[in-house]
Amino acid sequence: MHRSMVAIAALAALAGCTQPAPTATTTAAPDPAAIIARGEYFVESIGMCGDCHTLRLPTGLLDKATHLHGTAVPFAPLAPQPWAPQSPPLAGLPKGYDEAQLTQFLQTGVRPDGSRPLPPMPEYRFTAEDAAAVTAYLKSLPAPPAAP
Ligand code: HEC
Repeated sequence: MHRSMVAIAALAALAGCTQPAPTATTTAAPDPAAIIARGEYFVESIGMCGDCHTLRLPTGLLDKATHLHGTAVPFAPLAPQPWAPQSPPLAGLPKGYDEAQLTQFLQTGVRPDGSRPLPPMPEYRFTAEDAAAVTAYLKSLPAPPAAP
């Protein structure tokens, strides 16, 4: 090392500024924006919730203006079976669910009252962490205007 650099290092050490002061915790708290972004990825790219919970326009594209506001399911089974023809709104959290209940539902497919929704609602098995991210994303979306 050059002599002047040694001198600078020695001065810095004397001044106590060679190391940043240790912080109280080393693990940062989870970033809420990052959790919501992860939930968005699950909803928009993995679970494809909008395929059934968003109105489809005559063009075939999903209606961004009513994103996850619930809709008439645009297809029906070929063989008779139990079937729900309507999907509920998810934006802003579905009716009757708090965050913990929705997170639980997304891990089990079981509603808070112990019943299960009819097909074609898939029975998801998200991990607790991933389910919480989906819940955080849905909660962040503007709820549909109240029915008149
Ligand atoms: C293939 C179509 C389809 C997909 C994909 C889908 N859903 Fe559904 N979902 C439905 C239908 C239809 C219902 C209504 C079921 C009923 O009334 O029994 C429903 C109901 C629900 C309910 C309400 C359950 C209740 O208590 O009535 C929640 C919550 C829900 N879906 C969340 C989601 C989420 C989150 C995703 C994506 C991760 C998703 N759904 C993807 C069709 C779908």
